[in-house]
Amino acid sequence: MNEPMGAPFGDNQPDRRPDWGWNRRPFLIAHRGYSSRAPENTLASFEMALRAGAEVLECDVQLTRDGAVAVMHDPDVDRTTDGKGPLQQKSWAQVRALDAGYSDRFGDAFAGQRVPRLEEVLDLARHRAQVFIEIKPEALGSGPGGIELETLRAAERTRMMQDIGVLSFAPLALQRVHSHAGSVPLGLVFRWWRSRRLVAEALAVEADYIVVYAARLLRKPDIVQDARAHGLKVGAYVVDSNEHLQPMLAWGVDGIATNCFGDLLPALEEREQ
Ligand code: G3P
Ligand code: CA
Repeated sequence: MNEPMGAPFGDNQPDRRPDWGWNRRPFLIAHRGYSSRAPENTLASFEMALRAGAEVLECDVQLTRDGAVAVMHDPDVDRTTDGKGPLQQKSWAQVRALDAGYSDRFGDAFAGQRVPRLEEVLDLARHRAQVFIEIKPEALGSGPGGIELETLRAAERTRMMQDIGVLSFAPLALQRVHSHAGSVPLGLVFRWWRSRRLVAEALAVEADYIVVYAARLLRKPDIVQDARAHGLKVGAYVVDSNEHLQPMLAWGVDGIATNCFGDLLPALEEREQ
């Protein structure tokens, strides 16, 4: 926990195998794990995705009051746990005591699941999958030593530096990660209604990917060509049907995030044969 600010992360790592994980084109991303079948962002969800063959996972991270990197999408714990209130106002011990079985959606099938720390997800994925970690904008602090640095420290401790990418809607989060770890792949994520200058904004923060809402791509597929012409890769979220997967593949979208990993994988494999 004592690295000086600006210390390089991820040096001296061996090369990845060329045809694995996000090096494969196109590739599917298990969005919050296999989140159509298990409570999102839990170890159960990630394990289910891995067993279904996922080589790239996506998870969301937030920071607790006492600085733990917790894997959760929403700023409040209400939707997916049996607790209430903002995660940022809770200690890690309080968050860990919650039941993350997402009973509103899954009944008691996953009762007892806990909110994982980022390190637990990375430990689960080591030698099995690469992980896109999405830093939520509300987790950003005013200084550069917050969730970005804690995320990189978690990757170092779990020996996963070579196998993480960082995503965010917040350009500042990507800039901070880049300043500490220049080799980590970065994706700037866009909402439907946000900027029309996707490519320019992504290039400004030295991102590798633009990550675009799938419905937006379906309406405006020339985004893909534009990004490619500028040396950017393209990610799409969230694609849960073969009907929407096929055009993404035809346009050359690189990474396709899905909540239904095991249901879409056969379509991708068929295409590869
Ligand atoms: O990182 C892409 C995607 O996960 C962003 O949307 O709200 O599902 O985290 P959200
Ligand atoms: Ca996400």
